[in-house]
Amino acid sequence: MQRALVTGGAGFLGSHLCERLLASGHDVLCVDNFFTGSKANVRHLLDNPNFELMRHDVTFPLYVEVDRIFNLACPASPIHYQHDPVQTTKTSVHGAINMLGLAKRLRARILQASTSEVYGDPEVHPQVESYWGRVNPIGVRSCYDEGKRCAETLFFDYRRQLNLEIKVMRIFNTYGPRMHPNDGRVVSNFIVQALKGEPITIFGDGSQTRSFCYVDDLIDGMVRLMESPPDFVGPVNIGNPGEFSMLELAELVQETVGVKANIQFQPLPQDDPRHRRPDISLAQAKLGWAPKVSLKDGLKETVAYFRKTL
Ligand SMILES: NC(=O)c1ccc[n+]([C@@H]2O[C@H](COP(=O)([O-])OP(=O)(O)OC[C@H]3O[C@@H](n4cnc5c(N)ncnc54)[C@H](O)[C@@H]3O)[C@@H](O)[C@H]2O)c1
Repeated sequence: MQRALVTGGAGFLGSHLCERLLASGHDVLCVDNFFTGSKANVRHLLDNPNFELMRHDVTFPLYVEVDRIFNLACPASPIHYQHDPVQTTKTSVHGAINMLGLAKRLRARILQASTSEVYGDPEVHPQVESYWGRVNPIGVRSCYDEGKRCAETLFFDYRRQLNLEIKVMRIFNTYGPRMHPNDGRVVSNFIVQALKGEPITIFGDGSQTRSFCYVDDLIDGMVRLMESPPDFVGPVNIGNPGEFSMLELAELVQETVGVKANIQFQPLPQDDPRHRRPDISLAQAKLGWAPKVSLKDGLKETVAYFRKTL
């Protein structure tokens, strides 16, 4: 049994990770300031004697005893991370420093939930880990993109300087039950609009593409990375390489919900990338990982969740 700390554990991905770790027999300490996460996401775990929930902001130091640290705390959708951009950078940077400091004291292994946003609006497609990215350092998305890039730098410097056991995971668009219904992310947006019988809003002309990974696949990749041999540190892309245009996604969502909604086109937000698709050869080779759940099947589960909660 390991004692695992999950920061951002009451969020979308964090709550699924807590569930998975408990199911594998580990002790889980979930830390969250409930900025975008909620107790409702982990309420079903509260009776488990191996689960503990703590309200804490990772921009402040934390003193606990654990063997593994999964650092997920950070608002992930533009609506939320742009709400208080200074706090977003602080969460990424000070949060990383505090969690790395904790890992150093405990000699614990630590994983960073980084993001495909470190590639910015990429000139290389699909994105490989060796690509350095094209990120605007002063735009409205920079608090998140540059915060996450700086966190990666800190992880690698802690390794070079202090020989810490680190793992850096670059997460691509992930969806599934417990996504925040109002966070403006495209999958939840389309589903909520379709379920409410509202028009589906598409930014731009709908030809821009994204790839969508189902949450169970993502968590499987995260756990495999954490338990991979110490000399494999990443960064490693985890995502689904299937590529869909926004128009195709809108169609699939309508089909799954069983409605034919109107589509409304709106201007593209600033610095919105045209394409995003992971090259997952490294994850396949080093972790024996590849996604298993098709977009169609994943959407069924996600629609069922939103149908129940709305
Ligand atoms: N979901 C995706 O598609 C995706 C893609 C790339 C990267 N990521 C990364 O994965 C992680 C989890 O994302 P998610 O989709 O579950 O988002 P989420 O917003 O549901 O979860 C983030 C959690 O962190 C908590 N949090 C925020 N600031 C905090 C702070 N200062 N101290 C303590 N807790 C804090 C929030 O309350 C929330 O519970 C994030 O680091 C995000 O950047 C997610």
